[in-house]
Parts: sequence; structure tokens; C-alpha cells
Amino acid sequence: MLDSKMEIALNQQVNAELWSSYLYLSMSYDMDSKGYEGMAFWFASQAKEEFEHASRFMKFIGEMDGKVSLMPIEEVQQTWNAPIDAFEDTLKHEKVVTQRIHKLMDLAIELKDYPTQSMLKWFVDEQVEEEDTARKIIDVLKKIESSPAGLYALDKKLGKRA
Ligand code: FEO
Repeated sequence: MLDSKMEIALNQQVNAELWSSYLYLSMSYDMDSKGYEGMAFWFASQAKEEFEHASRFMKFIGEMDGKVSLMPIEEVQQTWNAPIDAFEDTLKHEKVVTQRIHKLMDLAIELKDYPTQSMLKWFVDEQVEEEDTARKIIDVLKKIESSPAGLYALDKKLGKRA
């Protein structure tokens, strides 16, 4: 049985994950409109992953006999000057998500809610990976930013995301 404080916090996280999905979808279509097909594919895959994160939280709330409450999803930015701006915003956003996950863990510990702690462990690990991936792409982008050939090669590489 979920404590009502935890239920509210988990539902807020569902909304945050759906917003993340919306944000990356926006980045995907913006990259597509600028001719970066590989990056568009990369962001579309990221958007799908975020939807899966939201689904993971919703499934858990249901399994814990809680109530999933779907709230409005706020508007997202529509355009970025260059790929590096989108990836820098990605890293910035993922750091915020990491803080959110850690706060959820703090609450689960405070409430002695062991099932939620166990479920959140996956997200703690996932955030390490998410930040690392974005940081690595930014590092490459910084090196090749003024090279069209370099950007082309990176775009091709990101289009092969599994
Ligand atoms: Fe669901 Fe990218 O964190």
C-alpha cells in the first residue's frame, strides 16, 4: 500500500517523464527540420525511452494499489539554434531528473517504503547512464562544431542508436 505522499510524488514523476518525452520529441522534429536525420532518430528513441519510464512508474503505482493520475503536460521549447544547444539542454534536463529521482528515494527511505526504494534503484542507475551519454555527445560536438564533415559523421552515428 502506497503512502499518499508517495503516491502524489510518483504521479508527479509520471508527469515529469511524459514531459521529458514531449521535450525530446520536440528536439527530434527540430533536428529533422534542420536536416539532421540521425539526431532526429536519436531524440525520437530518447522520447520513446521516456515514455517507457513513465509507463514503468504507472505500472508500479498500479501494482501498489495506488491510483494513477494523469495531469496536463506543459508546453516545451520548439526550436534550438544548433545540435549542441539541444544536447546541452538534454544534459541540463537529465540533471534535473536525477535530482527528482534522488528526492523520491529520500522520501521512500523516510517512509520506510522498501518496494518503492527497490523500484527506484533502477532509475538511480539509469540516470547515471543518461547523463553520461549526453555528456559524451556534447564532448564530441565541442570538438567538431565548426566542421560540417564532423557533424555529418556524428549525425550518421547517432542515427544508428540501438
Ligand atoms: Fe526518464 Fe531521461 O530520464
